[in-house]
Amino acid sequence: METWEELEEKCLHCDRCELCRTRHNVVFGVGNRSSRLLFVGEGPGEQEDLQGVPFVGPAGKLLDDMLSIIDLDREKCYIANIVKCRPPRNRDPQPQEQDACIGFLENQIALLQPKIIVCLGRIAAMRLIRPDFKISREHGQFTEKGGILFTALYHPSALLRDESKRPDTFSDLKALQAKVREVCTRTL
Ligand code: URA
Repeated sequence: METWEELEEKCLHCDRCELCRTRHNVVFGVGNRSSRLLFVGEGPGEQEDLQGVPFVGPAGKLLDDMLSIIDLDREKCYIANIVKCRPPRNRDPQPQEQDACIGFLENQIALLQPKIIVCLGRIAAMRLIRPDFKISREHGQFTEKGGILFTALYHPSALLRDESKRPDTFSDLKALQAKVREVCTRTL
């Protein structure tokens, strides 16, 4: 396992997949490296690619609002993505791109030792919870794997496209808040 500094340095120079050719910036992750709560999205969008920070575009604004509903902010959790470079035109990251990149997230998880991992959307949930995860049926449910509690919320971009999903997400956030209070002691 590498230190945060070693890992970030390696990630910023990564050329393990084709996404390195079109990226402007690697989006390593942001937040509190002592938090036990990790949010994982699928991959950087346009604004994230330009700024090198996850969830800073329109979906990111909504994510900040979602966090504030449950008394959280970026300083109380850590936020990362399955792939660290932007897929062109925001397409889904391909399996081989995810495979090339997942080691960085695994190392981030080893360093953070999160108690709870919140998958933002289907792509993260399929990668981290189960390949056949169905976000519309299973959002908000908690599953334990290797001593970590996993759950998934609708991706903020999906909530921007379809407001009818918002009441479900509000309930999921409230359940998450209760779980965080129960199990996340360090820094939260
Ligand atoms: N969507 C994601 O999944 N991740 C980001 O960082 C931004 C948008």
